Amino acid sequence: MRAFSELREASAHARFLTSRRTSAQSRRTVGRSDITQQNETLSGKRAVVTGGASGIGKAIVEAYVAAGVTVLAVDLPTASWSSSDGLERNVARLAIDVTSDDAPTAIAAAAVAQLGGIDVLVNNAGVMRPGGADSTSDADWQVMLAVNVTAPFRITREAVPYLKVSGNGRIINTGSIMSELAGPASIAYVTTKHAIAGMTKAMAIDLGPLGIRANFLQPGAVETPLSAPHMADPQYLGFWERKIPLGRVAQPEEIAPVAVFLASDAAAYISGEGLRIDGGATYNI
Ligand SMILES: NC(=O)c1ccc[n+]([C@@H]2O[C@H](COP(=O)([O-])OP(=O)(O)OC[C@H]3O[C@@H](n4cnc5c(N)ncnc54)[C@H](O)[C@@H]3O)[C@@H](O)[C@H]2O)c1
Repeated sequence: MRAFSELREASAHARFLTSRRTSAQSRRTVGRSDITQQNETLSGKRAVVTGGASGIGKAIVEAYVAAGVTVLAVDLPTASWSSSDGLERNVARLAIDVTSDDAPTAIAAAAVAQLGGIDVLVNNAGVMRPGGADSTSDADWQVMLAVNVTAPFRITREAVPYLKVSGNGRIINTGSIMSELAGPASIAYVTTKHAIAGMTKAMAIDLGPLGIRANFLQPGAVETPLSAPHMADPQYLGFWERKIPLGRVAQPEEIAPVAVFLASDAAAYISGEGLRIDGGATYNI
């Protein structure tokens, strides 16, 4: 009797192993055909880029358009817009403060109306106000948290259904080398950029099962209007030029191709990752 039940259990176990092998094989097959299907270019994709009127965001908008992407560029109503000739027809613009209550729904609605959906979301708008651990005001702290952290979270949450429908959604958050390091007189900025690292990893975990990848850019020192006041100080610029092994700060156009890469199928298996674009500065003590 006992031998018979053991035999029955053994045969049930064998059936279980066979079915597991079959489903693993079919998962591998599905994986292969997915990869074939994912070998597409970025052409025809639809991207939302916040902070798209200036600096790194503007360069990302231009690089995406050059790759055949249609873009909704989002920026403050006070932003001054300009872009290279020939790009205009593939760029829709939305003037809104990303920290406003209705920004997430307004951005999603504009993306649907103007682009027909969202495949790529780039949370790039950011602010930096200097201030130390003993001097940063409540107002500066709150603005930096609101723009750099809360807005990307809220906009992403609203965009998830569209990224899910896309079937291959991608989120790219703009962090910084300050997502890992810290510098003087920048406690709020450092805090927000560390938050971008954690938030992106959490997004990758929660949204991966929906087919959505989430990664973050980690630029070093980049010449943009945000950094201009600091770069104008010869001591600050000299510090970076000495620290950066390549000997110079970056241009926004040197950051944008990484946002193209992360949105593309070349990065199909990269999620939860931060990519440093810092000329080697992080490793130079
Ligand atoms: N410049 C650098 O050295 C550097 C380095 C690392 C990371 N970053 C990050 O790159 C991102 C882009 O910065 P940048 O250097 O291109 O600066 P930038 O000032 O040129 O561009 C930032 C854009 O965000 C917009 N923006 C700010 N607040 C907004 C709001 N509330 N609503 C809508 N739009 C808003 C601004 O109007 C501006 O167009 C930021 O997240 C920044 O923290 C910059």
